[in-house]
Amino acid sequence: MDRIVFNVLVSLMSPPFTSTASDSILSIRPETVDDIDAVTQMTTAAFLDHPYSRQTEAAIIFGLRASGALAVSLVAELSGGIVGHIAFSPIRLSGEASNWFGLGPVAVIPSLQRIGIGSALIHAGLATLRFRNAGGCVLVGDLGYYRRFGFVQAQGLVLPGVPSEYFLALPFAIGPIVGEVSFHPAFDNDAPAAG
Ligand SMILES: CC(C)(COP(=O)(O)OP(=O)(O)OC[C@H]1O[C@@H](n2cnc3c(N)ncnc32)[C@H](O)[C@@H]1OP(=O)(O)O)[C@@H](O)C(=O)NCCC(=O)NCCS
Repeated sequence: MDRIVFNVLVSLMSPPFTSTASDSILSIRPETVDDIDAVTQMTTAAFLDHPYSRQTEAAIIFGLRASGALAVSLVAELSGGIVGHIAFSPIRLSGEASNWFGLGPVAVIPSLQRIGIGSALIHAGLATLRFRNAGGCVLVGDLGYYRRFGFVQAQGLVLPGVPSEYFLALPFAIGPIVGEVSFHPAFDNDAPAAG
């Protein structure tokens, strides 16, 4: 089984959804080819007003996908619409391939943020990595948000150019890991920010 599906009952309806049903199902599932346009649009909308965004996130996802480096790509679907997306891609450690992954970009449609969709995507993505026996996951983001998923300030790992307080790691196995991290070249025009 290589598929994680979360079915969460949510009682919500706000634009762009017009239904008033209170039993809509939020599904977290792997992306398909049919989701690509919606993921692009949703990601662009989510980062439109982001203070640190250079509006390159949709292009990064495209680049990862085109390179076969979109190792885990999950969408959140509600009432037939794509309302969230998360990407994970392999990272290199001191220039060598690793079984660690970078989280990001992650995005939720603006009208449905702060009701748990981002958290559901992150939990499902991390569970998928664990299922695949990944070594761990790193991201650039705010510890205040990501510590709830188990992320801590990266110990022994360095991401050049990124202050250590924003470079976070979640090891899945016990034992020290050290090295200089590099994200996939698809991130080269932007910092691999997760939040
Ligand atoms: C970041 C994002 C994916 C979170 O998804 P979400 O569905 O809104 O988040 P959840 O509802 O699961 O969690 C909400 C919590 O996250 C916090 N939060 C959301 N974004 C945050 C951020 N960038 N930094 C710190 N905390 C954040 C909220 O304050 C809230 O905290 P609380 O539970 O203590 O009240 C979403 O807000 C988003 O798409 N933002 C724009 C794009 C972005 O910044 N992506 C991350 C960079 S790649």
